[in-house]
Amino acid sequence: MSIHYDDTRKLFSLTTAHTEYQIKIGPEGRLLHLYYGKKVGGFDMGYLRHYQDRGFSGGSRRAKDGSLLEESVDLAAQEYTGNGVGDYRITSVSAVSPDGSRSVDFYYRSHEILSGKPEIPGLPSVRGDGADVKTLRITLSDPVTGLGVILSYSVFDAYDIITRSAELFNEGSGAIRLEKAASLCLDFPNGPFELIHFHGRHCMERQPERVRLTHAIHTVSSRRGMSSHHHNPFVILARPSCTEESGECCGIMLMYSGSFKAEIEQDQEDSVRAVIGIQDENFTWELKSGAHFCTPEAVLSFSADGLGLMSRQYHRLIRDLVLPPRHRGKKRPVLINSWEAAYFDFDEEKLLHLAQQASELGIDMFVLDDGWFGKRNFDDAGLGDWTVNLEKLPGGISSLAEQINRMGMSFGIWMEPEMVNEDSDLFRSHPDWILADPGRRPSLARNQMVLDMGRKDVRDYLFDAIDTLLRSANIEYIKWDFNRSLSNFYSAVLPKERQGETAHRFMLGTYELLDRLTKAYPDLLIEGCSGGGGRFDLGMLYYSPQIWCSDNTDPIARLTIQEGTSYGYPPCTMGSHVSASPNHQSGRSTPLETRGVTAMCGAFGYELDLGRLSDEEKEKIREQIAYYRKIEHLIREGSYYRLVSVLDGMPFRAFEYVLPDASEALVGIVTTDAEANAPFPFVTLKGLEENAVYRLDGTDRLFSGAALMYGGITLPVQTGDYPAVQLLFRREA
Ligand code: DGJ
Repeated sequence: MSIHYDDTRKLFSLTTAHTEYQIKIGPEGRLLHLYYGKKVGGFDMGYLRHYQDRGFSGGSRRAKDGSLLEESVDLAAQEYTGNGVGDYRITSVSAVSPDGSRSVDFYYRSHEILSGKPEIPGLPSVRGDGADVKTLRITLSDPVTGLGVILSYSVFDAYDIITRSAELFNEGSGAIRLEKAASLCLDFPNGPFELIHFHGRHCMERQPERVRLTHAIHTVSSRRGMSSHHHNPFVILARPSCTEESGECCGIMLMYSGSFKAEIEQDQEDSVRAVIGIQDENFTWELKSGAHFCTPEAVLSFSADGLGLMSRQYHRLIRDLVLPPRHRGKKRPVLINSWEAAYFDFDEEKLLHLAQQASELGIDMFVLDDGWFGKRNFDDAGLGDWTVNLEKLPGGISSLAEQINRMGMSFGIWMEPEMVNEDSDLFRSHPDWILADPGRRPSLARNQMVLDMGRKDVRDYLFDAIDTLLRSANIEYIKWDFNRSLSNFYSAVLPKERQGETAHRFMLGTYELLDRLTKAYPDLLIEGCSGGGGRFDLGMLYYSPQIWCSDNTDPIARLTIQEGTSYGYPPCTMGSHVSASPNHQSGRSTPLETRGVTAMCGAFGYELDLGRLSDEEKEKIREQIAYYRKIEHLIREGSYYRLVSVLDGMPFRAFEYVLPDASEALVGIVTTDAEANAPFPFVTLKGLEENAVYRLDGTDRLFSGAALMYGGITLPVQTGDYPAVQLLFRREA
């Protein structure tokens, strides 16, 4: 029974295989949070809570005999807060009533328990169909303003995951203006915690950072109209003693690709509150009488056994219930992408030459990147004009695709649908289709402007353009790029008092377009991209099973980028390519083997001018592809372990993939810092069967699972620039 309600104690208990979440209806009807942690068998965890009146935390009420009738809301652990009624910590909601009042106070009204999981209208959410999932919906309302909220909790028993979202509704007679509508408020009554978050920049996304919480509000957010390179909509609260393998931690991830905000506050009682949702700065939403507003979904992964398990719980859920169903568990093509091979400088002959060499090496798919359309010879023209540039490709896309198909490869293409260049026919015909403030020239970034995806006419134009392209040629893949942060959040089709809706409507519009497209073309493989990994989030993964992880293809930098990404997202979602050496972004030279080992950690491919390679290098690439075929199921379905992480400060990194039945394990070890007279690199494996015997592939060396896990393995000292090895262990008996 994954959701249980005890009416006598007014206690909800939500249980997964190893975790439990408890909620209580307080004496006055407020919805209180009791517990989220390791399973406690339904035991009422209310005993944990001690109450003490504290100065300047008002609102408590006591009977004549001194017994407590009502706690101060400023001290209570709550499921979703009101605003302006005495809780001075971070709020879940901010709303202005028709009379100008801003206070909101929510009380329990009703609840229902459903089998399955309803979708969230207009937003991607974890898929409930086919999964063993139950949903609790608790309705709270404010009798004074008429504002209400339905809190949804979906319990994925076998995944140890709980998802949450909020649906605000207006039962009053006039419109209410929402100024903040969080997806989740999660109170942990007892600290201390550390915060792990993922910061970065273009070409250096998702760098893990771990900090001790102080008595302050820590904010991780994006105002860029995209989840961003700079912060990811994912935070982890971990006990200070929590490591990869032990200790408690809780991941909080938002399924949203637009501006977001995660706030974490440690308060006067050392309690910790986390609130996550749409970025509230510059956000407003007019909630008319009778209307509903749905927030994006937050996905919680609690582990009592360390960060590694928390990650693996996310990985399984995302692979099974977030990625588009047609691509779940499916082999991904090894691709060659034209970008770092040719940038904008190509014609048909050059592309076909690259494709011919790729096909001879055993590559599955040729992807034509930016530069094939409109007047696109540089980044200052063409975006929006999704028709082929016949000067570069006289036979059009269909002839190119046909020729590539004849070489035995499939064909994919690059697009950046949400953007437009000033120098484009689209902008010349529809200057009002962009985000721009009246009377102000919109700020340019990468010479481009942003289409107003909230407009139906814009979305219809884009759907028709993509549909026409897909019908015109055998295109099996689209790289869906997004190369600037948003600005000038003003839509020509919204009235002035509703301009605060523009950023969220942009995101809803993009999701609607992706939804329409993926329904029309369910087998189309979309690789998300935003100047690399600027929109690496669950919202995009719902439509695109892989995302170009970073514009930085340097394998050593990629180790940290991919490791940071792995805390929340499975390896099979990370687009990762072997590129040229010296690397085009960092200038660093690395061996081809090392570039292969790092790129094989995700959705594998190549992105370099194959014509510049020696015969010996080409032979190595053939061997790499053959090796990848041998291990790709481990990357796709294996459980992932960070064996030696960037946070360990060692001169090498190590990671492991283990098949669910523990029959095979792949270990990758990359030296990042060669030292003179160095100690032997040493790692212990994880997730094997203790009593099984494993053979090290390609050798006659046998090990017991216990030996590999508890004794570990040592490698000879690795010298030189960035050497890397892969070790494949296969169970024999
Ligand atoms: C940014 C992407 O991340 C690159 O891989 C490439 O597609 C360029 N855009 C093309 O403009």
